[in-house]
Amino acid sequence: MMEWTDRHWRAFARTLTKKALLYTEMVTAPALIYGDLERLTEHSSAEHPLALQIGGSNPDELYQATHRVKEMGFYEINLNLGCPSDRVQAGCFGAALMANPAQVSECFSAMQNASGENGPKITAKIRLGIDDQNPEETLPDFMAMLSRAQIKHVIIHARKAILGGLSPKQNREIPPLNYKLVHAIKKQFSDMEIVLNGGLKTIDQCINELGEFDGVMVGRAAYQNPQILLQVDREIFNEDPPHQTAFEALQSYRPYVEDILQQGFPLKHLTRHLVNLYHEVPGARQFRRILSERAHLPGADWSVIEDALRAIPNVENL
Ligand SMILES: Cc1cc2nc3c(=O)[nH]c(=O)nc-3n(C[C@H](O)[C@H](O)[C@H](O)COP(=O)(O)O)c2cc1C
Repeated sequence: MMEWTDRHWRAFARTLTKKALLYTEMVTAPALIYGDLERLTEHSSAEHPLALQIGGSNPDELYQATHRVKEMGFYEINLNLGCPSDRVQAGCFGAALMANPAQVSECFSAMQNASGENGPKITAKIRLGIDDQNPEETLPDFMAMLSRAQIKHVIIHARKAILGGLSPKQNREIPPLNYKLVHAIKKQFSDMEIVLNGGLKTIDQCINELGEFDGVMVGRAAYQNPQILLQVDREIFNEDPPHQTAFEALQSYRPYVEDILQQGFPLKHLTRHLVNLYHEVPGARQFRRILSERAHLPGADWSVIEDALRAIPNVENL
């Protein structure tokens, strides 16, 4: 997620779950070709399994971009066909591409060719449809196109995108969710791996949907309530989580924080991802306030996080 799942967030997420597949922010194909490749794809081995998401609509550019990143150890390379932002529409990629299945097919052929037999798998993230499309009719055709293009792993954000008139934020809230249609798609395309996305808030909801789907993708809930990630390994994968409590997880993040501070980055780059760690416990508001008010001050260091933790009674067990 843009601005959210940067490398600092991903490193923190890994203190909460070993198993969940994490995604980078979207990086455009031209940026990967002409930009600072190292900075744009920067990640540590601790973040794996990690998927790289690319935005683009030009098959040649997608070929080159995929070629440049295919040896970097990403678990998958995902093409964004769901983003409704104006900037993305102007480049005519993201959700706008759902109106142009023939072009999408060419994009995926190019990416598959670049990745080759041994490269990371190429996957798609889509919406149910866009604007005045009738997804009951257009989505099965779109899925059939993906299947023909050998794209067998598709994340479906279970709502339409409205490209004229709604902001990206509104496009995550206003078009209604339609899980029923995604269930029907899974039945119709049973040989494809379908991942349900949109509106999932609890582990129980995820477990329930995993009865039928091959995966679930949780966006805002994982960011706004990171403790949900602490349940993933045990509840979904039947494995021990990396730490028993959020407190323990945060302590294990300390060496990373200190390393980043030493490199000259301000504490606020890290604490912005931590403010949501505690909700609905006494002191949670004070925890957030200390982080927000002090992390941007010159010289702010780990002691700010320690002071914030002290605001929560009994935090060692939470
Ligand atoms: C701040 C923010 C940035 C996002 N950036 C991306 C992105 O770069 N690529 C993408 O495919 N989806 C992006 N999304 C959409 C989410 O991946 C997800 O599809 C959407 O929020 C619905 O899932 P949720 O209800 O679990 O959040 C973003 C969402 C938010 C809130």
